[in-house]
Amino acid sequence: MPRTLITSAIPYINGIKHLGNLVGSQLPADLYARWCRLRGHEVLFLCATDEHGTPAELAAAKAGKPVAEYCAEMWAVQRDLAEGFRLSFDHFGRSSSPQNHRLTQHFAGKLHENGLIEERTERQVYSHADGRFLPDRYVEGTCPNCGYERARGDQCENCTKQLDPTDLIDPRSAISGSTDLEQRETKHLYLLQSKLRDELDAWIDAQTDWPILTTSIAKKWLHDGDGLQDRGITRDLDWGIPVKRGTEDWPGMEGKVFYVWFDAPIEYIACAAEWVDAGKGTDWERWWRTDRGAEDVRYVQFMGKDNVPFHTLGFPATIIGSGEPWKRVDYLKAFNYLNYDGGQFSTSQGRGVFMDQALSILPADYWRWWLLSHAPESNDSEFTWEDFQRSVNKDLADVLGNFASRVTKFCRSKFGEEVPSGGAPGEAERALAERIDAGLARYAAHMDAIEVRKAAAELRGLWVMGNEYLQEAAPWAVFKTDPERAAMQIRTALNLLRLHAAISAPFIPDACEAILAALKLERAHMPAGADEALAALPPGHAFAVPENLFRKIEDAERADWETRFAGTRT
Ligand code: 2FM
Ligand code: ZN
Repeated sequence: MPRTLITSAIPYINGIKHLGNLVGSQLPADLYARWCRLRGHEVLFLCATDEHGTPAELAAAKAGKPVAEYCAEMWAVQRDLAEGFRLSFDHFGRSSSPQNHRLTQHFAGKLHENGLIEERTERQVYSHADGRFLPDRYVEGTCPNCGYERARGDQCENCTKQLDPTDLIDPRSAISGSTDLEQRETKHLYLLQSKLRDELDAWIDAQTDWPILTTSIAKKWLHDGDGLQDRGITRDLDWGIPVKRGTEDWPGMEGKVFYVWFDAPIEYIACAAEWVDAGKGTDWERWWRTDRGAEDVRYVQFMGKDNVPFHTLGFPATIIGSGEPWKRVDYLKAFNYLNYDGGQFSTSQGRGVFMDQALSILPADYWRWWLLSHAPESNDSEFTWEDFQRSVNKDLADVLGNFASRVTKFCRSKFGEEVPSGGAPGEAERALAERIDAGLARYAAHMDAIEVRKAAAELRGLWVMGNEYLQEAAPWAVFKTDPERAAMQIRTALNLLRLHAAISAPFIPDACEAILAALKLERAHMPAGADEALAALPPGHAFAVPENLFRKIEDAERADWETRFAGTRT
């Protein structure tokens, strides 16, 4: 049985994610996990919250809560929303878990043993009023280049010039506004990634099947400018994983924590340990250690394009540098951005539709279908309410929903609530089977290749075949002269509906469950081909007419939502 390990980029803890975040990693990862399970793979699908760093601390302060308490609450909120969207994680962990503490400290210890860590003393801005060092982007002031008064210490948003906090005129703390700042010396650990450059380069070169979007980003970081830079992996913060090497204290690093981007990807591994400790699995090393059985695991990662450098260079550098046999990613699927109605989705500006808001107006399947069928793969894509309405009404209500209701209602009225027997399939059914076989093969090929939009288009094509078949076969007319033949046609159509429920579940799991429940089935497997699929439900098998699977979105509703979500969320 093939084994597939799947991780989605782990979302930051501060705040509820918007639909652009969702479609950039968690949702397509779920699609693929469900598909692999349908294909009979043994799957481990992991995600977690990314809990460390200054943004988490500031969000907690804003909420007036201790950061640990804030994170615990937000983790539960994100977990519930993930469930609401039917994200089928085997475990939803936390980067602040004890398992991640241990593993992150373990990796740091190994990197140190292998001579890949250097201590460097540097000068950094310290804010007396805030009682803390300020990360570059939390120092604000006037840009020396363009005079913009709200430039950040890492970059001026107005003229895009890269800055150092010391370049700013009249610097102040972005947290408190205080100008009582000083430059202080502080010591940090640097991971000497530059020593691993050739190995990383060769490894990227070996990934011939990766999408261009992924390898081009990795190559750019390896070769452009100064090439791969050594990376500071510690910070002067309170909240985070204390700097240790293995279980030992690190002299001179007391009171410091690891940088959030050092510990976050390690959580992919720690999450598997959490999964075991939560009693949901037995042997996590079997998924992660190539000396413990993971050599035959295929590991697939999902993320937005901004995360690619950390996953193609940063995390692999940690793993390679450890010298231990950890599993490395086999395929990395990255996404462009989803825009919102003529602009960008933005968490900081509260612009767009957020996961909780989406579920408050429509069930998960509606969103899943639109988002996945419009996934920003080769380009950025855009959410508009008009397109959302059109796609839901046409694809879900008119095509799939309508087919399900026509077939089951017609059958109930003419033959009762069981699959009718009728005669043997004829020419039209053979032609249908051929079309289905071809469509299924294309659908499976796109799903295997994680070509999400193409897969959605093929799936829709398979739904359309149902309505086209009914239209051509016209059992309501045939019934008047040849009820036996009409019965066979309806049996064929009911089987086609069952096939739809089986293969569409990765996209719209709730609707598929409703169809299966109506067909009095617990599950439906991926069929070997159309012949098997069209004969799966035997004559006499009982069914019920499903509740209306999808409702249409009215113009007035759409207009209302458009106005409601036009502003910024407060
Ligand atoms: O961009 C983000 O949302 C990050 N929290 C992703 C981290 S992915 C990984 F490194 F764990
Ligand atoms: Zn500027």
